[in-house]
Amino acid sequence: MGHDKLRKFAENETFPCLLQPSADELLRDGYFALRDHQVKGHWGERFANPDAPLVLELGCGKGEYTIDLAQRDPSKNYVGVDIKGARLWKGAKYATEHALGNVGFLRTRIEFISAFFAPGEVSELWLTFSDPQVKSENSRLTSPVFLNRYCRFLEPGGLIHLKTDSQFLYQYTLAVCRANGLEVVAASEDLYADSDRFDPCLTEVQTFYETMFRQQGYPIRYLCFRLMPYEEYFVSPSDFNPDYWRAIEGHRTLFGRDTAETRRQKMKGR
Ligand SMILES: C[S@@+](CC[C@H](N)C(=O)[O-])C[C@H]1O[C@@H](n2cnc3c(N)ncnc32)[C@H](O)[C@@H]1O
Repeated sequence: MGHDKLRKFAENETFPCLLQPSADELLRDGYFALRDHQVKGHWGERFANPDAPLVLELGCGKGEYTIDLAQRDPSKNYVGVDIKGARLWKGAKYATEHALGNVGFLRTRIEFISAFFAPGEVSELWLTFSDPQVKSENSRLTSPVFLNRYCRFLEPGGLIHLKTDSQFLYQYTLAVCRANGLEVVAASEDLYADSDRFDPCLTEVQTFYETMFRQQGYPIRYLCFRLMPYEEYFVSPSDFNPDYWRAIEGHRTLFGRDTAETRRQKMKGR
């Protein structure tokens, strides 16, 4: 491991706003059964205003978006979640140095998220430039598998915001909403072209990937939907054609480099 990463990991241990649970804290008897973390139901105690609504960003990377939202709206508490410690280091360092009392970070896999938040503890959720996972539905952060996890801690009717460059993930998520009767509060296939329809904050605050994709000329898609309390499990959409949308997605080039899918498409075309 690089020297710089080791330095960041060591510094991460000193940031009070960053929670990095060990596997032992999470895994019952060392293996797959998750147990609740002690912070569950107690997030308020980590912030200056314990009673403020809690907003999560899943897959926050370096945490710029979490921090920017938190600085603009001190009436809410914000937690950014990511698995990569070297990325979280940047946000956690900034929040510590600027004594931000409404920002926290959690280093964990999103798959484990329901071990950390109690029913109704979270009021809103942001999914920012999540991997579209074109081949594995259950890995998509808006799949029924993940919605079933979120509704264990998102307050009834809580909003989920999706910002993405991916037409595949955007269309898939719309189909999931249709299949489960979830209210779509706002939707745009080109947020910046439609910006007059939305709160200026949506385009003024940008994630790291959002800025990169915009520089490459990709439209940014935005979807906001309401997660209602469930009586049964959420279901997969039957009217979503993954092959069709995968083909469109396959021709994408990421930051000037071909994705594996793009390379395959080009080889086929030769
Ligand atoms: C494409 S980046 C987007 C980062 C940031 N949201 C942005 O827009 O700049 C996706 C992030 O999600 C994180 N991630 C992906 N899968 C994850 C998982 N299962 N659990 C936790 N983090 C995950 C990655 O580490 C990465 O930082």
